[in-house]
Amino acid sequence: MTEVNEMKLKEDTELRIGVEEGEAIVELIEGRAEIFGSELEKHKRYTFQKGSRVAIFTYEGATIEVVGSGANSYTSDQTPMVIYLNTHAALEQIRKVAESDPSHRGPRIMLVGPTDVGKSTVCRILCNYSVRMGRSPILVDLDVGQGDISVPGTMGAIFINKMADIMEGFDCSRPLVYNFGATSPSENLPLYDLLVKELAEVINQRCAVNRDSNIGGVIINTCGWVHGDGYQCLVNAAEAFEVESVVVIDHERLYNDLKRDLPSFVKILHQPKSGGTETRSKEMRATSRSERIHKYFYGTPWSRLNPYTFEVNFSDILIAKIGAERLPESCLPFGTKVDDHNTKVVSVRPSSSLVHTVLAISPCAAVSQNVIKDTVLGFVVVNEVNEETQTLTLLSAQQELPSKVLVLTSIKFVDDRNH
Ligand SMILES: Nc1ncnc2c1ncn2[C@@H]1O[C@H](COP(=O)(O)OP(=O)(O)OP(=O)(O)O)[C@@H](O)[C@H]1O
Ligand SMILES: [Mg+2]
Repeated sequence: MTEVNEMKLKEDTELRIGVEEGEAIVELIEGRAEIFGSELEKHKRYTFQKGSRVAIFTYEGATIEVVGSGANSYTSDQTPMVIYLNTHAALEQIRKVAESDPSHRGPRIMLVGPTDVGKSTVCRILCNYSVRMGRSPILVDLDVGQGDISVPGTMGAIFINKMADIMEGFDCSRPLVYNFGATSPSENLPLYDLLVKELAEVINQRCAVNRDSNIGGVIINTCGWVHGDGYQCLVNAAEAFEVESVVVIDHERLYNDLKRDLPSFVKILHQPKSGGTETRSKEMRATSRSERIHKYFYGTPWSRLNPYTFEVNFSDILIAKIGAERLPESCLPFGTKVDDHNTKVVSVRPSSSLVHTVLAISPCAAVSQNVIKDTVLGFVVVNEVNEETQTLTLLSAQQELPSKVLVLTSIKFVDDRNH
């Protein structure tokens, strides 16, 4: 039987909902409330699918109706929302200075912390609050595992000028996407650092020519890998984007390490995580990556997409791979760094090992080093490989390939929902 619950929320409290079965439909009956910074419209019904976790927060008090028997919900008055609001207020101060003096730029803030502490959520809240002030921030997502901008294995940026849709998130229809090709920076650290630098450079160029972006500033989401090389990636990213503040969620040691290692002009803030964030298992993360790829091709129940499948001949495409076999140092040309093989682009022959592999579509006309730094045009998945006929069957968002150079990734996707 469908369960209908009406809940009255007091000011500064939130209703946390985890959808365990079926779906949950949420409606704002009275007052004002928001989900991760996006305001709810009164009497509009919002549907959340199984697996969703959201918090409906109210500063002033609200009455909410929740429909759905599989929704596990509870109210909490222990939320860090006011702290996040203060962070937003500090960003606004920097924007005001940038607005009155063009020699200044808007805020650059990076969110760091271990997995499942709410980094992506806080980025969303901060972006939403800035849009609600009429700003146009840039959201940069460096999380190649659980990023929000494109498929797993990528890093990128979006230029935001409207609030995230409550169910769909931010409009990612025109993202800036770099293909890293794996779900952890550890797979190729030199490539990861190189792409971070490249993206930072492109963002700087955008800020130099677009005053609204410059004032709106840059909000950077990062990976939850905070130890060893992962920590170094965070330090490198802070440097590349010249951030002036870093928010460390939940992890005291990380906070102390960054205080020691980042320049003294960088403000490092230690903030609590919300008790509402859930810890996801390895399997849940893998499922959510797969769902992200599914969404890229098939859309969501509210805005479905119809992808194409077609065959291409081996001879009509070029497959590029980033990272060559490591040569012994004695074989390297004079002056070549040992690490260079990690960022060397090489050609590979199509073969049956490509089945279920995600390939990035590069705008390059040939397999060259440009494959790394050029933002990608999209992604395809190899559904089938036929060595006899020398053809590949591709799942594609576009009716035909916009370019013949496809870049290998280590990401797999089994397209079992296309029939
Ligand atoms: N206040 C809250 N109440 C309920 N759920 C929440 C709350 N804040 C965040 N969540 C949920 O908790 C989960 C983890 O949050 P989020 O994805 O922001 O964490 P993260 O640190 O970015 O994780 P990752 O390391 O995977 O990138 C998400 O499903 C999110 O919707
Ligand atoms: Mg995240």
